[in-house]
This record gives sequence, structure tokens and C-alpha cells, in this order.
Amino acid sequence: MIHAAIMGFGNIGTGVARVIDVNQDAIRRTLPEGMCVKYVLDIRDFPESPYGDRVVHDIDVIVNDPDISVVCETMGGKEPAFTFTKKALEKGISVCSSNKELVEAHGAELVALAMRHGCSYLFEASVGGGIPLISTMLRSLGQEKLDSITGILNGTTNYIFTKMEREGADYATVLREAQALGYAERDPAADVEGHDTGRKIAILASLMTGKTVRYEDAPVEGITRVTARDFAWAHAFGSTIKLLGRAARTDEGLQVLTAPHLVPETHALAMVNDVFNGVFLHGNMVDDVLLYGRGAGSLPTGSAVVADMIWAAKAKGTGVPVEWDAEVVSLVAEDAMKSRYMVRVEADERKLAEDAFEGLIADLKTDAVEGELAFITEEMPLSECRARLAALPSVMGCMRVLA
Ligand code: HSE
Repeated sequence: MIHAAIMGFGNIGTGVARVIDVNQDAIRRTLPEGMCVKYVLDIRDFPESPYGDRVVHDIDVIVNDPDISVVCETMGGKEPAFTFTKKALEKGISVCSSNKELVEAHGAELVALAMRHGCSYLFEASVGGGIPLISTMLRSLGQEKLDSITGILNGTTNYIFTKMEREGADYATVLREAQALGYAERDPAADVEGHDTGRKIAILASLMTGKTVRYEDAPVEGITRVTARDFAWAHAFGSTIKLLGRAARTDEGLQVLTAPHLVPETHALAMVNDVFNGVFLHGNMVDDVLLYGRGAGSLPTGSAVVADMIWAAKAKGTGVPVEWDAEVVSLVAEDAMKSRYMVRVEADERKLAEDAFEGLIADLKTDAVEGELAFITEEMPLSECRARLAALPSVMGCMRVLA
């Protein structure tokens, strides 16, 4: 029997316990000895829970118990999760995390620490909730040179965009509804300002390169400025709008960003709606791979954590190798990133717009929103687009288009 501990008994930690309990038979197909939860670490007590008698408040009880070979870290936040994770790994205990903040900030260091101690640091649940994304990148696509990752990686903002699109509603109204339903946090900043997606794409870009892509080095734009009018124009161009995290190898270097994009209705990511996540990977041999599923939630995320716990248990004594070096990758500067753009201006500025973007307008429409026109540009660096926009007095929006 593999004896495990759960560090952090909140939404995800309780999901981990339930998956281990309800799906013990399924777990035994891969891990014939089975898995049980010996400890739950939390600052709270849970007298009503069937796990109430296993609650401890001291990490040392867990790391000093020779029975324990794997723990999950479902605490969130940097501290004390970082300290507890290091304590476990230094004792040769594998740690499986759902904590994107810690993984993004210290992933390379924790992977190296695990390798030195013959155990694993795995973090499937830190990106894409229940979607088997990181294990797919590490295992099934380990033979590939991935050249791009494009993902809808945040369920809250995808839910808000889906409602805005279906109801023609404004951002603020939908956010209030989402908060009332518990889909959006009372402080929604990390989601709506794009930081959650930014951290997740930084983790994926690090795994894609095998080096460290720092979240703070990549531009992040959230959804707060996207309006019902942007959606009306997107429809006119046969598209929808999605908040995308993108990482791509380009001639200029590695390009990583988070921003709202026009996505053609024919693109698979346009069909990823509500709280679902979707990730498009492109490899040099396999071509396109699309993964879709629930990006959050107790059971989906708990299931991803348990998948890692099984993988770590199978690799007991050696650890699961993860290529993630501490060397920081330089990224293409935002100004130099190339894209096509949808630009919205006042209708009476048509001549000015046609002059400013002469020969660079791929499509122009006038009939979606009264008093406005919008056009799609050819591909150009952001700096060039901004320079051309400077000639237009009434720019009401400029959004990237997924090519
Ligand atoms: N707030 C995140 C989301 C939770 O909405 O996707 C999962 O990381």
C-alpha cells in the first residue's frame, strides 16, 4: 500500500481524497498495491469529515513518517507551500502539486531538488485542471519538438466571454452574475487581468523549452476592456473572442503572451465554451494535438493530482524525470511580436484608416455597430501597428487576431 498525505484540505485536497476513495479499484489497475491517505495537513480541524482523525498540523509528522512516500500539495500560495514541499523532497518524498503560483516561481528548483533525492516533483493539476496536459507533453509528446502552444487556460474568463457572447451583455454585468454563482472570485483580479493564464502559459512554455520562462517577462492583458461591441465586430468577421495564453517559437525567438484574441469560428478553440479549457499543441512531427476538459473544480483537479501521485509512486526510488532547467529564456519583446489586428474606429474616419494602413487592410466592415467601422490588418509587429494607429484620432479598440 502506498501511504500518501494531503497538504491542504480545501476544494482540491478534498477532491484528491474522494478520487482515492471512490476510484481505488481503478487506481489498482495501475498501482496494484493501492493507495491510501494516512494524513491530512491543514491549519483547520475537520471533525465532521471521515478524514477528521487523520488531520495533523505539523509537517514534521508527515516527513518523519517512513511510511509516507508521496504527498500532494493542494495548499496554494507560495508559503508555507514552498517550505513544506522542500522538506518533503529533501526526505525523498514525492510531491504532486496543483499550485501554479509555486510551480511557476520555483518549478526548476523543485524539479532539481526532487531529482537529487530520487523522487518526483509533478504538477499536472497546476495547468488545465483535469486535462491530462503536462503528462501528455512530458510522456506522449516527449519525442516531439513542440513549436507552439495556444490555450484557453482560465475557466472564469472563458465563462464570462461565453455569456457576453450569448447574451450580448457587458463585461461588468456578467462578472457580477459569475460572482453570484461562485464561478468568479470576489476578488477576480488574478483571473480577469490575465495573471492566472499568464502563469499557466509560463509553466507550459518552460516545459516546451526545457528552460525557465518567467511569467513577469511576458506581456499579459486581461479581459476587462473587452466590450459587447468587440463581440459584435468579431461576429461580423466570422470570429469569436477568447483569452489566449500563447507560446511559439518564431524566427525572432520565443514569443509568449496572454491577451484576448479574435478566433475564427472554424477554429477548434472557438468551440471551447463556458468554464472549459482547451489547449492546442503543435509538434514538428505529430502536427496538431487538441486537449479539452474542465480547467477547474474539486474532482477534475483532484483526479489530475491523483494521476501524478500514481506516476510518482510507480517511479519510487528514481523519480519521474522532468526537463526544466533554471536558465532563463529571453523572450521576444512585445513591440516586436507580429500579429494581425482588428481595429475599431469611428465610421467617418474611413479615409484616414485606409491611408494609415494603405495596402495592409485585409478586410473592412461597416455594418455591425452604428457609427463605427472595423478592419482586419495584415500581419505586422505591434510597434508598427501602434505607429499607424497614431494617425487615427478615434481608435476604440485594437485586438490581436489568431492567424
Ligand atoms: N481561477 C482558475 C480558473 C482556477 O478560473 O480557471 C483554475 O486554475
